[in-house]
Amino acid sequence: MPSRLVAGNWKMHGNRAANRALLDAVVAGIAGLNGVECAVCVPFPYLGEVAGQLANTRLALGAQNLSEHAHGAFTGEVSAPMLAEFGCRYVLVGHSERRQLYGETDAAVAAKFAAALGQGITPILCLGETLAEREAGKTEEVVGRQLEAVFRANDRKLFENAVVAYEPVWAIGTGRTATPQQVQEVHFFLRNRLQGTRLLYGGSVKKENAAALFALPDVDGGLIGGASLVAVDFLEIVKAAVRAAQEKG
Ligand code: PGA
Repeated sequence: MPSRLVAGNWKMHGNRAANRALLDAVVAGIAGLNGVECAVCVPFPYLGEVAGQLANTRLALGAQNLSEHAHGAFTGEVSAPMLAEFGCRYVLVGHSERRQLYGETDAAVAAKFAAALGQGITPILCLGETLAEREAGKTEEVVGRQLEAVFRANDRKLFENAVVAYEPVWAIGTGRTATPQQVQEVHFFLRNRLQGTRLLYGGSVKKENAAALFALPDVDGGLIGGASLVAVDFLEIVKAAVRAAQEKG
């Protein structure tokens, strides 16, 4: 299993001055920490500047979305070759906000997953159920269907170069983290289908709950939204992942 991963998802937040200060603090804070990979997924306009700031640091660059097409008449879209040119190592694919607010289908998500890998960019494939789906007992059905759509369009071997993030929609940005038991159940379900793939949990991960989540047998790290915008919080979460890596081996 490759090293654990803690990835920040800034969503549509930031400005050039704030980004610089945040990244300076994070880069300095992770300098002495080993055994966990760290990344930040930033808005498109900042990619070039952030790439420069992160050059020769241990913090990897990521984007939050990409087009399934390589180039062409797709106004407003950004392609995998463009992300590769800026040195993106990761890209979020199928985040629930993309699925819910922008109508991304399972098929589009599968095509984006392939487009990223085609450029050597590691997709972080996001899966997760809504509250209504959980309450109807459909969590595994929904997460399984989302995963199956990507399996159908991509060779299973490619998943060794991918990351999967379980992000229950009801836990994202709500402060309502899934319980360790709920997380482990879904991660166990995913692990049975994805032996060599890093599995992240996302959804209101905070410095207070990160240790309990990262200690779970089938959790290999986290996808962090709100807490990734505050350097001390993000660093505490990374440290929790480092400790979990030492304890779990
Ligand atoms: P959150 O977001 O940590 O703010 O809940 C997680 C995500 O959407 O990736």
